[in-house]
Amino acid sequence: MALLKIARMGHEVLHRRAAEIEDPTDPEIARLVRDMIDTMRDAPGAGLAGPQVHAGLRLFVYQIPPHRSEGPDDPPRGPDVLINPVLTPIGDEIVPRLEGCLSIPGMLAEVPRHRRVHWRGVGLDGRVREGEASGFFSNILQHEYDHLDGILYPTRVVNFSMFGFAEEIRARVATQAARPDETAADTGRSA
Ligand code: NI
Repeated sequence: MALLKIARMGHEVLHRRAAEIEDPTDPEIARLVRDMIDTMRDAPGAGLAGPQVHAGLRLFVYQIPPHRSEGPDDPPRGPDVLINPVLTPIGDEIVPRLEGCLSIPGMLAEVPRHRRVHWRGVGLDGRVREGEASGFFSNILQHEYDHLDGILYPTRVVNFSMFGFAEEIRARVATQAARPDETAADTGRSA
């Protein structure tokens, strides 16, 4: 098991576009993916993109543990990898999602995201895989895809009153959940 160093916000590798992977079946890519999954699980996190481990390549790993599944359309998944991914929004519905990022430790924010996306990419076997995602998986895909384009979630924040230290934001969410007239966001998970 190899744990990789995670780049933090401000490091240039996080702020530029990552490169396409020419050969997804290259054993070096498989090794990188194994190490990224180890690193994600150790963190712990729900997703980790190439640039976050100083690899400017278009891939990310992810996992949805059973307790983060948001229903039958959002089953537990992974850990798995998506190489050279392409995301396409389904419909135009935008929902607020509470997000953290392993490159921005200790912080959480409410981020507007597409409710549903179509995803397509390649696995380590070189084969195309695709599907539709909603719930937590949809959120992870959009967050990790942004990393490949050098975008960190703070640039997508609209409601800056819901951007802050994780303990404070979680306390706010818990307060909102106690009020029936407001929608509670989830508890957030770094990715
Ligand atoms: Ni992240």
